[in-house]
Amino acid sequence: MPRNTQIVLDNRPQGAATEGNFRLIATDTPPLTDGQVLVRHHYLSLDPYMRGRMNEGKSYAACQPLGEVMIGGTVGEVVESRHPRFAAGDKVVGMGGWQEYSVVDGNAPGLLRKVEGGPVPLSYYLGAVGMPGVTAWYGLTQIIAPKAGETVTVSAATGAVGSAFAALAKARGCRVVGVAGGPQKCRYATEELGFDACIDHRLHTDVKSMSRALKDACPDGIDGHFENVGGTILDAVLLRANAFARVALCGMIAGYDGAPLPLQNPALMLINRMRVEGFIVSEHMQLWPQALQELAALVVAGTLHPRESIAQGLASAPAAFIGLLHGKNMGKQLVKLI
Ligand SMILES: NC(=O)c1ccc[n+]([C@@H]2O[C@H](COP(=O)([O-])OP(=O)(O)OC[C@H]3O[C@@H](n4cnc5c(N)ncnc54)[C@H](OP(=O)(O)O)[C@@H]3O)[C@@H](O)[C@H]2O)c1
Repeated sequence: MPRNTQIVLDNRPQGAATEGNFRLIATDTPPLTDGQVLVRHHYLSLDPYMRGRMNEGKSYAACQPLGEVMIGGTVGEVVESRHPRFAAGDKVVGMGGWQEYSVVDGNAPGLLRKVEGGPVPLSYYLGAVGMPGVTAWYGLTQIIAPKAGETVTVSAATGAVGSAFAALAKARGCRVVGVAGGPQKCRYATEELGFDACIDHRLHTDVKSMSRALKDACPDGIDGHFENVGGTILDAVLLRANAFARVALCGMIAGYDGAPLPLQNPALMLINRMRVEGFIVSEHMQLWPQALQELAALVVAGTLHPRESIAQGLASAPAAFIGLLHGKNMGKQLVKLI
């Protein structure tokens, strides 16, 4: 059995997460027993939710135990199988964690899913045609539910979720406005991702300035907003929301290191009779096949072809993860492991 390299959570962050919270170790892979599958990971997905798992305390999911392999989505290839449904060479998506190999119970429901090769690149199953894509699909179709011609906005617009949101909203005939960090990301949003406009949040750091920028980019007001960041952006969106606007609360990354996210204008939710709904995509597994089918079709049609930020080798994962939390990624953040 191959020697495995793994990254474990060594200690919990005090404030901002750092590379020192993680530790790289080498272990022996145990021999397979009946029903088990050995997977060689090709890509590891780095996602903002991992930051929340590093903390102790009440949340929608259990915290990451110290000394254990960091949780994470992976895509790779079966190298050995003692399960009748999996064979060496199968391409599979799973939650293999921050490590080069994983031994998976092939009978456990939902742990390992075979994927097609073909026109969808393997790495996309962790992004556009994976959990982040489904997240965008859920918030857009189940909460915002836009009509053609409506204006929808999204923060962290060029990231894994935001880029899928743009393609899905354009397919429904919406005006789509993004908020992203820096001129390069904003150009990418309008020139490659299909956004009608993109606002650089670094130029609009207070609510008044952001609200003015939103007014210019959304002359008919905002009918639906997909929130990935929280804080100033959400506050300013409330000022520009139309009556009966819908907000899908997906993420609040601006607060993941502990910063407070005060709202100056919460009364506008009442005044505008708004629907503001948080969601966790893994609680809606019954809708994933439908969402994945649409996302794959958009990729094949060429209307969803987001960039990826790819760090090389497992040892680069902690730095890439910290970079993701500070907006250094351009598109889906991955680590290439092979
Ligand atoms: N509810 C769910 O089930 C679910 C599932 C998946 C993801 N999510 C959430 O969806 C959001 C996006 O995830 P993703 O995977 O697509 O990540 P991502 O957008 O690829 O990367 C995170 C981005 O957040 C932005 N950001 C970070 N700190 C910020 C700050 N203080 N102010 C403004 N923007 C900041 C940065 O973009 P800029 O440089 O453009 O600012 C950064 O590139 C996250 O909040 C995540 O937790 C939720």
